[in-house]
Amino acid sequence: MAAAARTALITGASSGIGRALAGEFARHDWNLILTARRGGRLEELAGQLRGEHGVTVTCLPADLADPAAPRHLFDTVQGRGLQVDALVNNAGYGVPGPYHKTDWADQQAFLQVLVMAVAELTHHFLPAMVERRQGWILNVASLNALLPCSPGQSLYAGAKAFAVSLTQTIAAEVGQHGVLASSLCPGLTYSEFHDVTGTREQVSQVPRSQWLDAETVAAAGYAALMRGDLVCVPGRTPRLMALAAQLLPRATMVRLMARQSARFRRLD
Ligand SMILES: NC(=O)c1ccc[n+]([C@@H]2O[C@H](COP(=O)([O-])OP(=O)(O)OC[C@H]3O[C@@H](n4cnc5c(N)ncnc54)[C@H](OP(=O)(O)O)[C@@H]3O)[C@@H](O)[C@H]2O)c1
Repeated sequence: MAAAARTALITGASSGIGRALAGEFARHDWNLILTARRGGRLEELAGQLRGEHGVTVTCLPADLADPAAPRHLFDTVQGRGLQVDALVNNAGYGVPGPYHKTDWADQQAFLQVLVMAVAELTHHFLPAMVERRQGWILNVASLNALLPCSPGQSLYAGAKAFAVSLTQTIAAEVGQHGVLASSLCPGLTYSEFHDVTGTREQVSQVPRSQWLDAETVAAAGYAALMRGDLVCVPGRTPRLMALAAQLLPRATMVRLMARQSARFRRLD
């Protein structure tokens, strides 16, 4: 199939890594279906990408915290006769503060967006990829998925570890049917994430050398997906941290994470 005929559905495309991934796919001649809550932002990006790359872009605003949203999104895509060749589960954020001080409603919405929507969208779009014997699933996880915990964003590491595990399971189950699956595990990346999560002040103390821009992360993720790499960790410092997590005793890593988080996250 010619690359120009392929379509990628990208969640969380209104800013940061999702927006950069939309640019990266468009640069490689993919048509796009973009979703996020801020429809105005999606339309503005769609206009830019149509103009720069001549690709077709469809915007379908949705709030993935709504449990009905993944099914509705799938039905809308089907109803418009669109084919999804690549699914990019990227939408995400963090709930700040220690677990016992957070509201359950916030945690529930978080799990809906980062776990349930990822699982359900994948479940809806995967069968047609298997049938066509061609498809791509990119789950934007986090370096945190490869570390033992995320103090100050309690469920984040677990939710992202879920995304990595699901990716690997899909690769094991349907890799032989032509479906490539990758999880992208970035460390600190310039985006709106830390403003939304309320940790901008703390994380701005982390040296600039340890940050990546969203475009670099997106380019690494796209290349990894096309190669079928199971896990992609862009950047030297995040890769060293992932390696340390494999080599050091778990209790040592948990202590290190607690110390690090006390400096850069809200633990009180
Ligand atoms: N930035 C980092 O340091 C970093 C590091 C590792 C992993 N990540 C992961 O990278 C992914 C992208 O984050 P980012 O850094 O690019 O942050 P961002 O700039 O804040 O982008 C997050 C995207 O998710 C969308 N989103 C949030 N809640 C949503 C909801 N309820 N329904 C639909 N869409 C929703 C946002 O769109 P709307 O607000 O318009 O809905 C936005 O497009 C996330 O999964 C994040 O966990 C980020």
